[in-house]
Amino acid sequence: MRAYRIGLLPGDGVGPEVIEEGVKALEAAASRFGFGLEWVRYPFGAEWYLERGELLPDSALEEMKGLDALYLGAIGDPRVPPGILERGILLKIRFHFDQYVNLRPIKLLPGVECPIKRGSEGPLEVYVVRENTEDLYVGLGGRRRPGSDRFLLPLERRLYRGEVEVSFKLDAPDEVAFQVGLISRRGAERVSRFAFELAKSKGKRKVTCVDKVNAMPHIYSLWRETFEEVGKDYPDIERDYAYVDAMTMWLVKSPESYQVILAPNMFGDIITDLGAVLQGGLGLAAGANLNPVGLSMFEPIHGSAPKHKGKGTINPMATILAGAMMLEFLGEADAAVAVERAVEAVLREGRVRTPDLGGSSTTSQVGDAVASALA
Ligand code: IPM
Ligand code: MN
Repeated sequence: MRAYRIGLLPGDGVGPEVIEEGVKALEAAASRFGFGLEWVRYPFGAEWYLERGELLPDSALEEMKGLDALYLGAIGDPRVPPGILERGILLKIRFHFDQYVNLRPIKLLPGVECPIKRGSEGPLEVYVVRENTEDLYVGLGGRRRPGSDRFLLPLERRLYRGEVEVSFKLDAPDEVAFQVGLISRRGAERVSRFAFELAKSKGKRKVTCVDKVNAMPHIYSLWRETFEEVGKDYPDIERDYAYVDAMTMWLVKSPESYQVILAPNMFGDIITDLGAVLQGGLGLAAGANLNPVGLSMFEPIHGSAPKHKGKGTINPMATILAGAMMLEFLGEADAAVAVERAVEAVLREGRVRTPDLGGSSTTSQVGDAVASALA
């Protein structure tokens, strides 16, 4: 029997609640389609960190290398200062395994109400391809206090390694802080190619490149130029451009006019929260951190939502749909489609819904409903 070994990171906040329902749904799909899933659990997150001071040890990264995929609940906890867990676990995995694509579909499923008044009644299916390793997320930065005006900042990615030196000769009256963005031609090239290939495979005819080249010409001119060049290999697919500020407006005004959107890391982060709301809320928004030739990680994009922790009210559908993306990536296309159809069936029927969709069902009741629709 075909079997996959999946690293399971329930994580923080509502992560463990949703991941349990994700496992439930995927197990139902596995037994229907005749493959096996072996779950390798990892305890990393706030609790582990607070007890032992450990984030994500190198030994775990080493072990994960041999897995077929990672399935993540959420990372982040108000008891830990912002950034420690996120950078030390979530971003560390994305960067270490060079998961350079963050694929976040915006699909408005039947039976779900879109919170904005749309110009057309047609279906909404847009794929956001967010670059996932570079841009302002390279983590280069610092704060300059009197007497420390030279920084040697380490930078390590699969595409390059070394350090960036920043030195200040600045007559400033007070403290200054800086954060440097970095985009490489190779980095922009591979994610652009992914976006065009995705367009091709999904029958889309346009890719929109998002940037802010009018205000930040250095990194985003390289970004845009590279997109332009890669696009020449795809003469049947239209190349379209939008500044990120305008993009937010157009996504609200006429989301159906987009097909595939390619965005640098930070702008991609911002517009995909907007995208999530267009598809009925964060409870339905799934994402994949992809390395097409390495280890990929699948997660809901809602984060740990600490206010909702332990209440059993959170919608597990985003996590279940991320699980469907994982099955597709593993080559179980039929099972992936079946999971999506099961979610759609539960949504269309409308009887079992969590509060975010106007219902009063619990997280695990939704998981049960999806699993039995799959059986
Ligand atoms: C996301 C999150 C992360 C990001 C945070 C938690 C670091 O917002 O996955 O969208 O910025 O990428
Ligand atoms: Mn985000």
